[in-house]
Amino acid sequence: MACVLTTACATAPEIEVDVATPVLETATTVPPTWTPTATVTPLPTNTPFYTATATLIAVAAAPTETPVVVCNRRFPENDLLILVNRDFHLSADYEPTDLVLLANYFNPRVTLNYQTRVREDLMPPLIEMIETMYNAGLQPSIISGYRSYQQQQIAWDKWKNWYGERAENLSARPGTSEHQLGSTVDFGSPTLQHTFHTSFENTGEGVWLLENAHLYGFTLSYPRDAQEITGYEYEPWHYRYVGVALATELYEAQLTLTEYQLAQLPSLCLNQSEQQ
Ligand code: DAL
Ligand code: ZN
Repeated sequence: MACVLTTACATAPEIEVDVATPVLETATTVPPTWTPTATVTPLPTNTPFYTATATLIAVAAAPTETPVVVCNRRFPENDLLILVNRDFHLSADYEPTDLVLLANYFNPRVTLNYQTRVREDLMPPLIEMIETMYNAGLQPSIISGYRSYQQQQIAWDKWKNWYGERAENLSARPGTSEHQLGSTVDFGSPTLQHTFHTSFENTGEGVWLLENAHLYGFTLSYPRDAQEITGYEYEPWHYRYVGVALATELYEAQLTLTEYQLAQLPSLCLNQSEQQ
């Protein structure tokens, strides 16, 4: 595929995965832009999560009286919809098979010369969206994409070092990050020197993405005032690709992906006959 926004894409240098210095604000003058509406029946605590493959693992300790049963029904057919959060983990060796280097598609204005990779599935909508933004006079960058379990460990350690206990609300521990799926992108703005900052929502890039990203299949994973649902503080830069239909449905319903996923989750398999 042709390189976007340049005639020849530079080869990205070997650098460590982005764990750009976070610059976060706890206070903001911007009013809430997100009002979660759906109610979701919570899963029983300590509910094990069994899946069709070895790529996902149970996180909660199985109660001793509960038989351990593999439950294939809990693995979504569409792997773009895998639920990943504090309660639903990825195994350390989970890695998408179709990762591609952004530097083969975008110029360094977009890649910041990072060796960021994402799933190939994302590239057509991501290219179209970034091109549309540049044509509108915006200058989005991609600060982060796929992060392996080990790279997420590095990121987590740094956030923990910088923010102590608050890191739990800012960064995912290894195995619990949507970035390990390869379908999640953190966008940046030159206005903020391409750093993570809640005021990204006030930049041209942040405003545009909030209003339009769903039209390209991206959904904001951690909206403002949704921490009780998502587990994380507001991240106006963190978008996950789920396809146009679902992203639009979520946008119009003002629903988080997490709520949708939990509501869609099949019940636990209780015996061998229920396995698929
Ligand atoms: N900052 C988000 C929660 C992550 O680390 O995946
Ligand atoms: Zn992110």
